[in-house]
Amino acid sequence: MKYYHDTGASPFRNPDAFEIAYIPEVFNFRDSQMKDLADALRPGLTGKSPFNMVLRGLPGTGKSTAVHRVFSELEETTSRIVPVYVNCQSENSKFAVFAKIYGKLHGHQPPPSGKPIRQVIYDIGKILNERKVVLLVCFDDANYLLPGKVLNSVLYILLRMHEEYPDARAGVILPMSDMDIDLRAVLDPSVISVLQPDTIYFPPYNEVEISTILRDRIRVGLNPGVITPDIFDCIICHTMRTGDMRVGLDLVRRSVTAAERAGMDVVTRNHVEASFDLAKNAPLDATIQTLCTDERKLYGHIAGMSLGTGESLTSGAVFESVKRYMPISYTGFYEKLKKLDEMRLIDLIFLKGRGTTREIALRYDAEKVMKLTRYGE
Ligand SMILES: Nc1ncnc2c1ncn2[C@@H]1O[C@H](COP(=O)(O)OP(=O)(O)O)[C@@H](O)[C@H]1O
Ligand SMILES: [Mg+2]
Repeated sequence: MKYYHDTGASPFRNPDAFEIAYIPEVFNFRDSQMKDLADALRPGLTGKSPFNMVLRGLPGTGKSTAVHRVFSELEETTSRIVPVYVNCQSENSKFAVFAKIYGKLHGHQPPPSGKPIRQVIYDIGKILNERKVVLLVCFDDANYLLPGKVLNSVLYILLRMHEEYPDARAGVILPMSDMDIDLRAVLDPSVISVLQPDTIYFPPYNEVEISTILRDRIRVGLNPGVITPDIFDCIICHTMRTGDMRVGLDLVRRSVTAAERAGMDVVTRNHVEASFDLAKNAPLDATIQTLCTDERKLYGHIAGMSLGTGESLTSGAVFESVKRYMPISYTGFYEKLKKLDEMRLIDLIFLKGRGTTREIALRYDAEKVMKLTRYGE
């Protein structure tokens, strides 16, 4: 058995074109959203506060890309606005957020180690006040800052900074992929009153749009002929089933890699079929990767129970069962449950007249969750 094949040239012309962080050259079908975003930020160019914006749309509808493109244009055209991009999946604590802002204002130097967060915030306020620059922070996938009310607390500080530092100006952009988060229910009234956000909607792409975007990306990322028209249709068909552009791009990357591994220079239907399961699960997998070990185990345990019983689960029953497998207090358990709910991995349903008992519903297929959380390991 040979492990390597000499295939000559790689089918990839530019492998980066299929990475999550890749910013496409052409960004079609989002003109009106880009214009609304640019309009909202315009006051910042003359040193005034930009309008705060919420970007709403299902995963893969171009929200992050829109922000990256606007931010890079701002970086090129003005020094009046300082854009800071926070990825809330990884930078998910109050300190991480302010350290990122501090770093941006200090030429990418992190705060000195041991510097208390109050000092970091003070420093940020002072710099904004002195330099008269406008801070613009994008909290991408802001829902990841809901546990522990981190989002509430950072918005409160940022948007009220001008009370202490009269010339400090700040605006925020909150892209969120979950359509049913009501900000008024998860943020305090004192934050809502200063946030007053406008919303820009990113509707799902239709089949023609998905095809155009994928075709463009394939042209940039692959050598000609790697994906035949038949296979292209098959990829589009799978992508439409999930409705998520990210799955489509990941499916191309995985299928081409599978072909390359097999020493072939064209993708076959088998490569696509074999890659689809992994590509389809990639977004949920990425979310599960952000959980700590106990949260991941609890999530897997809930999935295992829901598959086993077939009935609806209550928080009490899950606690009784899970405490046999991990040392956990009821308070600790409930906090984790709330986090899973806030991350939209489960639904916690209030039961009338049942005190603190909640019904727990999985938002994803139980077997899939068990596999991705490595249930039983
Ligand atoms: N209109 C578009 N043109 C080209 N690529 C796009 C477009 N919309 C989305 N994409 C690509 O699809 C993927 C998902 O987009 P992203 O901006 O991350 O979506 P969201 O932040 O809404 O989940 C990215 O790789 C992005 O480059
Ligand atoms: Mg995004």
